Amino acid sequence: MTASKAHIVVIGAGVVGLQTAVTFLEHGHAVTVIAKHVPGDKSSEYTSPWAGAQWRTHSTAKDFELQKWDIASYERWFQTVEQEKKEPGQPTKSGVAKFHNVMYWAEEDEELANGPENLWYAPHMRSFEVIPRSSLPKGAVAGVKYDSISIDTTVYLHHLVDRITELKGRIVKAELPTAGGIAGALAAATRLLPVYSINTPISAFVNSSGILAKDLVPDPAVHPIRGQTVLVRGVATQLRAIIRGKGVTYVIPRAASNSTILGGTKQVGDWNQNPDDTTTKWILESCRDVAPELLNEKGEFDVLSVNVGFRPGRTGGPRLEVEEIQTEAGKFVVCHEYGHAGAGYQLSFGSAEKTLGLLTEHFQRHATRAKL
Ligand SMILES: Cc1cc2nc3c(=O)[nH]c(=O)nc-3n(C[C@H](O)[C@H](O)[C@H](O)COP(=O)(O)OP(=O)(O)OC[C@H]3O[C@@H](n4cnc5c(N)ncnc54)[C@H](O)[C@@H]3O)c2cc1C
Ligand SMILES: *[C@@H]1O[C@H](CO)[C@@H](O)[C@H](O)[C@H]1NC(C)=O
Ligand SMILES: *[C@@H]1O[C@H](CO)[C@@H](O)[C@H](O)[C@H]1NC(C)=O
Repeated sequence: MTASKAHIVVIGAGVVGLQTAVTFLEHGHAVTVIAKHVPGDKSSEYTSPWAGAQWRTHSTAKDFELQKWDIASYERWFQTVEQEKKEPGQPTKSGVAKFHNVMYWAEEDEELANGPENLWYAPHMRSFEVIPRSSLPKGAVAGVKYDSISIDTTVYLHHLVDRITELKGRIVKAELPTAGGIAGALAAATRLLPVYSINTPISAFVNSSGILAKDLVPDPAVHPIRGQTVLVRGVATQLRAIIRGKGVTYVIPRAASNSTILGGTKQVGDWNQNPDDTTTKWILESCRDVAPELLNEKGEFDVLSVNVGFRPGRTGGPRLEVEEIQTEAGKFVVCHEYGHAGAGYQLSFGSAEKTLGLLTEHFQRHATRAKL
C-alpha cells in the first residue's frame, strides 16, 4: 500500500462517512462505503436524516480544532451558494441555502462570559451584529444576528451519494456483525467485498458508524442525545434560535422542500424512539411567536411530521484516531471517526480532512519503517 493511492473502506453512510468518502476520492484514492443504512432509509439507528440542520456552532471558546472545522464548512457552503449565484432562501443543488440567523439567549451562560460581541465565531460570520439590549424581546438577555446556512438533509445526503458515484466510489448496503468486535467486523467486510466484485486489496478502514459505534467498538463514552423536532409546512423567512438551559427553540427553513423544522430537545441518555406529545406541544407553543409567518388562517402550524433522532454524543468530543488491529487474517488499520454529537454536518469537512491526514501520516510512517 502506498500513501498516494489507497483503497479505503468507510463503514457508515451518514454525513460523516459520506463526506469522508468524497474527500478521499477527491484526493485520488479508491473508496468503498459499507453501510447498514443509506440515504433514503429512515431508522432511529441512522441519525443524519433527522438533523435540523443548520450551521450553528457547538464548539466552545477552547475547542480550537473543532472551531477550524466549523469555519471550514461555513466557508465551503457559502462558496457553493455564491458559485451557484443563489439569493437568500434559494437552495443550491446540494440543498444548502443562505438565511439570516437571529439568535437570542434566554439566560446567561458560559458562552456569553465575555459578552456577545466576543463570541469566538463573531469575526468569521458574515453580517455579524450584536442586537442592542434596548432591542431585545422580553425574556432575552442577549442576542446576535449573522448570515448562516440551512441544510435540507435529504437533498444533501443524496447529493453526497451522487458525488461518490461520479468519482467512481462504491456503496455496498450491508450490515457488519458486531458480536465479534472490531476484528470480526473487519474480517466480515474483507469477505464481503469480493461478493460485489470489489477485489482491490483494502488499505484501511474508517469507522464512521455514528451512534451504533457503541456496538461495534464498545466505547463507554458514546451516548445518545435525543432530539425531537416537528416538520411544518412553509419556509420560514429566517433561521432563528432561542438558547435556553435545557431545550433550544429553533426554526430551520428547508428551502428545497417548502417546509421548516421546529425544535427541539437535547435529552442526554434518552433512547425513547417515540415522539412525546407533551414535547410536541411545547415545541409548537414556543415557536408560535418565533415563526408567526408559518401559522395558517386558524393560527396553527400545518404539521407534516414529528421526528426523533439520536445525536451520537461522546464525552470528550469526536474520536479521530488510528488503531492497528491484529487478527488471524492479518493486520487491519482503522481510523475511528465517530461521536460528532449535534454537529456532524458542520464538522464533516474538517473531520474528513483530519481522517485523511491521520491515515496518510500512518502510511508514510509505515513506509519509512519498512525501508529502515
Ligand atoms: C434533532 C437533531 C438536530 C441536529 N441538528 C444539527 C445541525 O443543525 N447541524 C449539524 O451539524 N448537526 C446536527 N445534528 C447532528 C447530526 O445529525 C449528527 O452529528 C450526524 O448525523 C452524525 O452522522 P454520522 O455519520 O456520524 O452518523 P449516522 O448518520 O447515524 O450514520 C451512521 C452510519 O453507520 C452505519 N453503521 C453503523 N453500524 C454499522 C454496522 N455494524 N454495519 C454497517 N453499517 C453500520 C449506519 O447504518 C449509518 O449508515 C442534529 C441531530 C439531531 C438528531
Ligand atoms: C467503531 O467504533 C465503535 C465505537 O468505539 C466500536 O465499538 C466499533 O468496534 C468500531 N468498529 C470498527 C469496525 O472499527
Ligand atoms: C408552500 O407552503 C405554503 C404554506 O403552506 C403554501 O402556501 C405554498 O403554496 C407552498 N408552495 C409550494 C410551491 O408548494
